[in-house]
Amino acid sequence: MKKELQFKEINKLTEEHYQLLLDADPSRKMLMNYTKRSICIEARQEEVFSGVMLLLPTRPETIEIVNIAVVKQFRNHGIGQRLLKYAQNWAKQKGYRVIEIGTGSTSFGQLYLYQKNGFRIYGIDKNFFVEHYERPIFENKLRLRDMIRLRLYL
Ligand code: ACO
Repeated sequence: MKKELQFKEINKLTEEHYQLLLDADPSRKMLMNYTKRSICIEARQEEVFSGVMLLLPTRPETIEIVNIAVVKQFRNHGIGQRLLKYAQNWAKQKGYRVIEIGTGSTSFGQLYLYQKNGFRIYGIDKNFFVEHYERPIFENKLRLRDMIRLRLYL
């Protein structure tokens, strides 16, 4: 039987949220910078904390999912996809017309997930992870340098 998933807007983030958000963005400095300006949505599965997502309004009609993460033991059970759908419905209700997301060029699983959910690539932020991160990041045996930008019209 499918377990029930609840979504809630959170005003005060706890260390539990930050620890999980760091799984999606290893830079605490970057994270602190956009967290203050974002709307935080948490997901709980039968009361148990299972995922988190940050939505940042970037332009009058555009909102960006700047961070999305699911607790390790709950991954690959559709929670990430449910968070993406929740973000789309939430944004539509608030009157946004565009939802965006960015991820590393080496994040193949994430790129698959976003495209599977209707996001289309519209640009590349070249050297984003070289210029904005203090330490080199490696993923899937590759040095991460570029950010892939994706967009979905609501
Ligand atoms: N590698 C391989 N495949 C993946 C990955 C991955 N890292 N992430 C998702 N997928 C695939 C799944 O296999 C699944 O495929 P299927 O539907 O064909 O079976 C599909 O994507 C859907 O996955 P969900 O179960 O809905 O995703 P999940 O609940 O695992 O959440 C998430 C995905 C949020 C990326 C999770 O893996 C996670 O927290 N990863 C660590 C943090 C992270 O990388 N966050 C995103 C960074 S970009 C950003 O924050 C804007």
